[in-house]
Amino acid sequence: MIIMKKVTLFILAIAFSMSFLLAQKAIDMEIQLDNPIGKISPHMWGVFFEDINLGADGGIYAELVKNRSFEFDNPWMGWKKLEGKTEGTFLIVNDANRRGNSRYLRVNKTEDIQAGLQNEGFRGMGVQSGDAYIFSLLYRGATEGLKLRLVLLDENDKAIGESHLTLAANKSWEEKSVKLTSSKTTSKAKLALWIEGEGTVDMDMISLFPEDTWKGRPKGLRKDMVQILADMKPGFIRFPGGCIVEGRDLANRFQWKKTVGPIEQRELIINRWNTEFKHRLTPDYFQTFGLGFYEYFLLAEDIGAEPVPILNCGMACQFNTAEVAALENLDEYIQDALDLIEFANGSIETTWGKLRADMGHLEPFNLKMLGVGNENWGPQYIERLSLFKKVLNEKHPEIAIIASSGTDPEGQRFDYLDERLREMNIGIIDEHYYRPPSWFLSNADRYDKYDRNGPKIFAGEYASHTTRPHGPGRNTWEAALSEAAFLTGLERNGDLVTMASYAPLFGHVDGWQWSPDLIWVDNLNVYGTPSYYVQKLYSLHKGTDIVPITSNGQHVTGQDSVYASAVYDEKDKKVIVKLVNYSREPVSVHLNFNSKKKIQGEATKIILTHDNLDIANSIEEPLNIRPNESRYPLSGKRIKETILPYSFTLIQLPVR
Ligand code: AHR
Repeated sequence: MIIMKKVTLFILAIAFSMSFLLAQKAIDMEIQLDNPIGKISPHMWGVFFEDINLGADGGIYAELVKNRSFEFDNPWMGWKKLEGKTEGTFLIVNDANRRGNSRYLRVNKTEDIQAGLQNEGFRGMGVQSGDAYIFSLLYRGATEGLKLRLVLLDENDKAIGESHLTLAANKSWEEKSVKLTSSKTTSKAKLALWIEGEGTVDMDMISLFPEDTWKGRPKGLRKDMVQILADMKPGFIRFPGGCIVEGRDLANRFQWKKTVGPIEQRELIINRWNTEFKHRLTPDYFQTFGLGFYEYFLLAEDIGAEPVPILNCGMACQFNTAEVAALENLDEYIQDALDLIEFANGSIETTWGKLRADMGHLEPFNLKMLGVGNENWGPQYIERLSLFKKVLNEKHPEIAIIASSGTDPEGQRFDYLDERLREMNIGIIDEHYYRPPSWFLSNADRYDKYDRNGPKIFAGEYASHTTRPHGPGRNTWEAALSEAAFLTGLERNGDLVTMASYAPLFGHVDGWQWSPDLIWVDNLNVYGTPSYYVQKLYSLHKGTDIVPITSNGQHVTGQDSVYASAVYDEKDKKVIVKLVNYSREPVSVHLNFNSKKKIQGEATKIILTHDNLDIANSIEEPLNIRPNESRYPLSGKRIKETILPYSFTLIQLPVR
């Protein structure tokens, strides 16, 4: 009986592997290694940054105190009074003479009461055991002898760090700081601030930052969040968005000049994502601009990315008020663009160049591209863009203008804009696609048909949207694999599509409004989604030259559910082939290299795969989908590979 069972199992196993082999399709591909068809742009793969989903405040900007300057609509938002019985201990004072930050807190404390404040942070504060945090505040008019006792509390209100600060009697605003060390790791800490002694003091900009920020910059950026960007070696960073640029109305638009200079003078505004989605209201979402345009330029420089600022063109979001600036008043908007170029590139003798230098950057930031308008459409956009273009071309022919082709990659609005922008001879057109996986698959050949003599294309916001419920789980392998297939088309057309970025960039698991997103975070952790790993593989292996790869003389754009592109890296002397198998069967591929050169040496294969298209990464399981790398010796002009079901495979081969 046992023997019978074993024999049956053996036969079944043979039958299974036979069927597996029979099921394998074999696809022959020709790679014309000696006939590259164009150069890949050195800044091809980049990042799109917007303060959405707690991307900046509560995210990469490492400030842990929410509403540090009492300027939110409700000045007490984020704060809790820990007070005794006496009325009038805490008073919010509004002094209209203080530019950009009119409110401050006046404390009037008698000896007989306990008085304190507690800040809840952004869905808590992330602190690590043993790490130091810098508390600081601006204060004035302190009574001699008044002291502050600062206590870090965990989620159960247990003290996990304490420090003291004695306030000297003073008349004008000054900053004081002290270090606190946490004895516990938690993402839900709070900060209590007790006022001890008797007297009065005015307080503002009550702040807590990790000491260990990106590059150790005081009041800087969250190290882990910048690092995950740097790891992608992004070719550019587009900032500050997105719809943030437009604002719900013009008053709420992003004005870069209000985001530079001393941080206590940067006037905050409500974040437009605060109330955008009724099902994801985020009433405590404001833009403090601690991360302002200077910091964005610095970030770009730090991670080796071209800075790509996008400015408001005199139009508020057309999904909201659709308010437009009168054409005769557009000068103010155009002047903002001219001044920005001066801020970025001007000599320190100029007004704005001097501000950049005063802020700490003597050298220019070397700005080369400027976006005018985000997702704007209609003749009202073309009218405004034309005015910008006239002045910018005249005064700054060295700056390439990026113009929007609207919200959709096809349809009437798109066709209208695409035609006009080409007539206007715009340098770069910014196309956006938030589409289902099927769109990404069927558009892998989109750019094969584009005019090579027209504007360059910036695939400025792409993301495959599945039917999965909103939230971090929406970043599935299905979405990422369909993007991988589409990106073969961008790479093959890298002479035309010179920039591409996924959008949005960050999502906070406790504070998102929009999903899917490229990278998810909580107050302590950060992880890349499958889409992150897909784009990162393209970016780290972008090569320098586009090499034709065909099957039966055709680009490989989904025949038998297979997609392919190839590049040559002239520095590393390697050819890199990217293959996507979007089927549930393994596929056998024969790569035939048509070349006088030899393929010989150690090959590298990197695979992203999973048999479950619905799988996603998460804070708990950040590496469900991650690259698996192997190396092996290889030689010959005909290479046989089996690509796994539902996989993205990158093969890097040495060329001699
Ligand atoms: O990425 C999220 C939003 O999508 C951007 O702000 C906007 O440009 C697009 O509609």
